[in-house]
Amino acid sequence: PAARLTLDPRFTVGAVHRRVFGSFVEHLGRCVYDGIYEPGHPAADEEGFRTDVLDLVRELGVSTIRYPGGNFVSGYRWEDGVGPRESRPKRLDLAWHSLETNQVGLHEFARWNDRVGSELMLAVNLGTRGVQEALDLLEYSNVRSGSALSDQRIADGTPEPLGVRMWCLGNEMDGPWQLGHRSAEDYGKLASQTAKAMRQLDPSVQLVVCGSSNSDMPTFGAWERTVLEHTYVDVDYISCHAYYAEKDGDLAGFLASAVDMDRFIEAVVATADHVKAVLRSEKTIDISFDEWNVWNQDRFHDEDQITDIEQWPYAPRLLEDVYSVADAVVVGNLLISLLKHADRVTSASLAQLVNVIAPIMTEPGGPAWRQTTFFPFALTSRLARGDALRVELACETYPTGKHGDVPVVDAVATHDPATGRTALFLVNRAIEGPVTVTVDAGALGDVDVLETHTLHDGDPYAANTLAEPTRVAPGENKSVLLENGSLTVELPPVSWTAISLG
Ligand code: AHR
Repeated sequence: PAARLTLDPRFTVGAVHRRVFGSFVEHLGRCVYDGIYEPGHPAADEEGFRTDVLDLVRELGVSTIRYPGGNFVSGYRWEDGVGPRESRPKRLDLAWHSLETNQVGLHEFARWNDRVGSELMLAVNLGTRGVQEALDLLEYSNVRSGSALSDQRIADGTPEPLGVRMWCLGNEMDGPWQLGHRSAEDYGKLASQTAKAMRQLDPSVQLVVCGSSNSDMPTFGAWERTVLEHTYVDVDYISCHAYYAEKDGDLAGFLASAVDMDRFIEAVVATADHVKAVLRSEKTIDISFDEWNVWNQDRFHDEDQITDIEQWPYAPRLLEDVYSVADAVVVGNLLISLLKHADRVTSASLAQLVNVIAPIMTEPGGPAWRQTTFFPFALTSRLARGDALRVELACETYPTGKHGDVPVVDAVATHDPATGRTALFLVNRAIEGPVTVTVDAGALGDVDVLETHTLHDGDPYAANTLAEPTRVAPGENKSVLLENGSLTVELPPVSWTAISLG
């Protein structure tokens, strides 16, 4: 099969916000403990953070890190994680049936995050707590000095305010599994009160209100409408969360997961704009897609296996998906979907970062390595600069049970007017054979091919593991040819490709 597309810097969707390349660290399983933090590991620094993991996180190119949850935050007392480490309480984490030692808290995480070079995005607990605790955390974090909680932060070892701009108003409050789960009405009122109070203290905060936990929730659509009716004037973003997995051996349907993400984003944009019209508002609400990934939830419900409450473990192995090439192609495609909606998706977080449904894995006392999904994320974060471009793709479709007829190829481009560089990102979803893509690049003028990367393997289920940590990696795509403004590239079956021109 063949496909055609056009690269033209005038076909702008919107600026690519760096926040789209965010990630997520939750106190869950081995993400924090025995993940980023493992005192005693040969690569640990004086604070107990693994420097080998830190290097990989930097290489991944994450712009923002959402913390500390997730479901965890809905039962979290942030005060437990500050002050002298030896007097911090051990708590039962009801979300993940684990023992939380609080050895990593706000100060440690903020310092680690600074060393990564990423922006801190905090979530407040609107499950078991409310307006006062959110205000306390904001005062502790962002007020310079001279008040009880800001002076406490200084006494606890962080003299400068953390200056946190991005705040999530709770987590997945539509989900019956969430501590303090509420109706849209009740959550909308609480989120509005919390947002107003937080802005009274710090008008510079940017606030994310909870949308649906996924687009299959029975309340999807109505939840967004009701919540935004209560909070439209108070917030900047509404969240989307989505996880995809191959179900019942349907690889073809799984490879088209980004079609679902496209539709999800467009439905939430339509709902937010409906509320905007009803309210006659001048303001536009953006999307923070602050949990997205491949997650084989059918295979694991590990926390349900942990039953004896007196034996809840420290840092158990939970949600440790091993990602295949096909999973990485889907992750690359989900990034394409986010960029195709760059005008409205201006923040996003790959969930999560280390060990827990993560691009980076670690072994206690042992190595850290890149999962297959690491590569499309790192390359897209590095190469996608400037404006996102529509590419006017024309190609064949194939039938799927889940999404109907879907295009075999998906693609998006970015163009940076400051450097003149263009990047093209493509996937071939076909299981059977390659696709030759012809790209009209005439509008770019006289450019050269700077880099090509294709992630593909004869076995779409090949993965990187502790035993074989470098089994899968992207390679140069030698088929790329650029002549007289026309570029051709062959995309192998089940593959993800990035091409940089300039
Ligand atoms: O990322 C794992 C979990 O998925 C998060 O804790 C929760 O918000 C979502 O359901």
